[in-house]
Amino acid sequence: MTTVLYPGSFDPFHLGHLEVVEIAARQFDRVIVAAVNNPQKTTFLSTLEQRRRDIERSCAHLPTVEVADFSGLVVDLAQQVGATAIIKGLRGASDLDIEAQMALTNHSLTGVDTLFVVAGEGRGHIAASLIRDIYRLGGDVSHLVPTPVAERLYEDGGPPSRQP
Ligand code: PNS
Repeated sequence: MTTVLYPGSFDPFHLGHLEVVEIAARQFDRVIVAAVNNPQKTTFLSTLEQRRRDIERSCAHLPTVEVADFSGLVVDLAQQVGATAIIKGLRGASDLDIEAQMALTNHSLTGVDTLFVVAGEGRGHIAASLIRDIYRLGGDVSHLVPTPVAERLYEDGGPPSRQP
């Protein structure tokens, strides 16, 4: 059985992320999607638990996908879940530098391989950082995230700036 790990901040989990999960589910027997606390980011829109629940709801139609949340080294999680590789999505060349650096560093730690998929046909503009900005400033991001994520983000009327 082949197992792949798809780690990310997923703050929030958006339609581009979902596409990567769907590609991974077509190529591997088992996919572990892990919401990870990126130590370089200090402010998150959603808690780790909220992000894990968002991913679970968004991937409910994919029976071979399991969801985890994790604080620690991604390579350690890969070993824990028995992943033979890490998968990441690339929207374009601008993603490659940092992703290649992480892939090579992770390989140097445990020998784990990282595979890249080019995802985001018609959605290459979607970025979690822009979604966070739009949401925090009171805009509508519903068309950029899976329905369960939009439902949670707006369940209490949205961010503070939208509330009376
Ligand atoms: O969605 P992101 O923010 O690009 O995800 C980055 C993430 C969480 C995958 C990366 O920051 C990470 O791997 N964090 C865990 C700590 C770790 O393993 N660091 C070494 C990476 S080379």
